[in-house]
Amino acid sequence: MEPNTSPIQIQKLEDYNLLPFDLLLLADPSETLVKQYLKDAEVFVYLLDQKIAGVVVLYPLDTYNIEIKNIAVRPNLQGKGLGTQLLKFAQEFAKENEYDNIFIGTANSSLSQLYLYQKLGFEIQEIKHNFFLDNYPEPMEENGIPVKHMIMLKQCLK
Ligand code: ACO
Repeated sequence: MEPNTSPIQIQKLEDYNLLPFDLLLLADPSETLVKQYLKDAEVFVYLLDQKIAGVVVLYPLDTYNIEIKNIAVRPNLQGKGLGTQLLKFAQEFAKENEYDNIFIGTANSSLSQLYLYQKLGFEIQEIKHNFFLDNYPEPMEENGIPVKHMIMLKQCLK
């Protein structure tokens, strides 16, 4: 896998008409939930050649805690380090804005995501049992595993 060596171009998305819904739905197939958390979130995009290659959505839970609600990279650009850069950006953003903790949630079946998040310092904090069964209309499967539970991971920043 070749690392991405171009200059990092992560910036805040000011114009919500430009929201990359295809990417957001790749990370979270519930349009209803995505639209709900977007209202109170900040969206940052990774630009490559002026085009949106990735997205990260940061959602303040309260004064001390912030959550990465959504992170996605275009399928043809995955595995090149963009996701890692977006996650490190989110961690820096949280530190600079003096949050104590940053959270991220993913499905029990999302094996490469669980690997990536733990590699970057997030630790498993809580399991929201049956979250996907309760909140998503269709049963889903990933890596041959039924998508059932939300694994919440946390990184303490202080
Ligand atoms: N293909 C190959 N390797 C992968 C992949 C992949 N699809 N995903 C993760 N990896 C591994 C890499 O091997 C790499 O490990 P290494 O550093 O030891 O070599 C590591 O994970 C990091 O890879 P990156 O290249 O930095 O990650 P990437 O740019 O692919 O972004 C992401 C990761 C965002 C999960 C991306 O694969 C993606 O968009 N997936 C689909 C949407 C998704 O599942 N989003 C997360 C849902 S949870 C949430 O949104 C809160």
